[in-house]
Amino acid sequence: MNTFVTGRRLARELGEWRSNGPAYKALAERIRVLLLDGRLASGARLPAERELSQALELSRTTVAAAYSKLRDDGFLDSVRGSGSTLRLPGRERGEHALHPGLPLDFTKATAPAYPGLHAAYAAAVEELPAYLSHDGFDLVGLPDLREAIAQHYRDRGLPTSADQVMVTVGAQHALNLVTRTLYSPGERVLVEQPSYPHALDTFSSVGARVLAFPVRQDTGWDLPEALLQIRRAAPSLAFLMPDFHNPTGMSMPIHEREYLAAAAAREGTVLVVDETTAHLDIDRGAMPPMAAFNPNILTLGSLGKVAWGGLRIGWVRGPREVVAQLLRNRPAVDLGTPLLEQLVAVHLFRDWPTMAASRSAELRRGRDTAVELLRERLPQWQLQVPDGGLNLWINTETVSSSALALAARTHGLGLVPGPRFGIDGAFERYLRLPFCYAGEELRDAVDILAELAGEVGSDPLRMPLQAVI
Ligand SMILES: Cc1ncc(COP(=O)(O)O)c(C=O)c1O
Repeated sequence: MNTFVTGRRLARELGEWRSNGPAYKALAERIRVLLLDGRLASGARLPAERELSQALELSRTTVAAAYSKLRDDGFLDSVRGSGSTLRLPGRERGEHALHPGLPLDFTKATAPAYPGLHAAYAAAVEELPAYLSHDGFDLVGLPDLREAIAQHYRDRGLPTSADQVMVTVGAQHALNLVTRTLYSPGERVLVEQPSYPHALDTFSSVGARVLAFPVRQDTGWDLPEALLQIRRAAPSLAFLMPDFHNPTGMSMPIHEREYLAAAAAREGTVLVVDETTAHLDIDRGAMPPMAAFNPNILTLGSLGKVAWGGLRIGWVRGPREVVAQLLRNRPAVDLGTPLLEQLVAVHLFRDWPTMAASRSAELRRGRDTAVELLRERLPQWQLQVPDGGLNLWINTETVSSSALALAARTHGLGLVPGPRFGIDGAFERYLRLPFCYAGEELRDAVDILAELAGEVGSDPLRMPLQAVI
């Protein structure tokens, strides 16, 4: 079924859309950007022209011209009597099993499955019959898996028992559960700027007032600003990625972890620490989990990056009473984590050193190839070489990443533009480039970027958002 986008919602999503050129072109361009970076879905039904013209206080002719441009460019289908539906052109040309039409899908920073995964599934299938007398609704996680996760924290120097762990359907699910359990309407949430887009989506889905503090590649986490926000606005939650932060790839130094953890404990802000990317070490070395410095921290984990995104196994680690609270709230959201995948996860924890080493070697190859290609083909772009994670966070200097992403899509290359990682339209001149792809794919992607960078940069109409950094 198509989603309906109301005039009011579209006006809100559009934000500051006007630019120097004709209003209809700027409006069409901005709607395309929203479609491209996923804030409007392909298949979503746009409001009627009259409704949108009222919501934006624009003439109906301007809205009609914008819709007509979107139609001419292949982004909108209009059928008399049933409205106008957004579409992504090029879907017909499909190659990818899950993402037809996008031969180079760099919109997701997710690596291929760990080579030992199939064997782990095969072993889990053998074990499954012993569980089939179980009702199958597992809200908290299999004891063996909770224990394996607890052991994993103990191996990292953080005493943890199995009853401090709840297994979830990935880290994103865990974040939703935590947010719905601990956040109350009217409260504030503190995030890093830039941050993980779907975490921002989660906070906006509960209507949270989101405050941000900067994470810069040159100076790191702006802790004085974080502390100021915590003291002044008393956010109930703060969401952090201290290890191989997505998208910058940075890691928070140990003394800063300790400092921020202590400050949050003093001021009563609960830190939600997302460690989904924490095991993607290339050449950094181990660091203590942030929860080592504050017992009230909630840590989110996942096998999504180190093993495979399709496994959908994640977890929350925290104080027992919070885990019990999450458990009471969970049935309102979902009725448990699949058993087969949990059995697979138990096997993967046994394989951990091999799995982490295999991922690290692959990421090193991807990172080094991507950096070399970019330095050769786009030497004017600024980048820092991360010591782990999945991404390069590139300062394109003058090039609008929204415009670049739009243009790249017509060449079969999917990218997420910088503003998707910020609030208030920041990072227009930043591009996240995942390097967890094969050398050939990286080469094709950089070829496309190098070809488009010159064209796109000179077109001011294609810069709908203002950089604020
Ligand atoms: C920082 C971060 N958190 C959470 C997730 C989602 O994790 P999962 O696939 O386990 O839901 C991702 C995936 O991209 C991520 O990068």
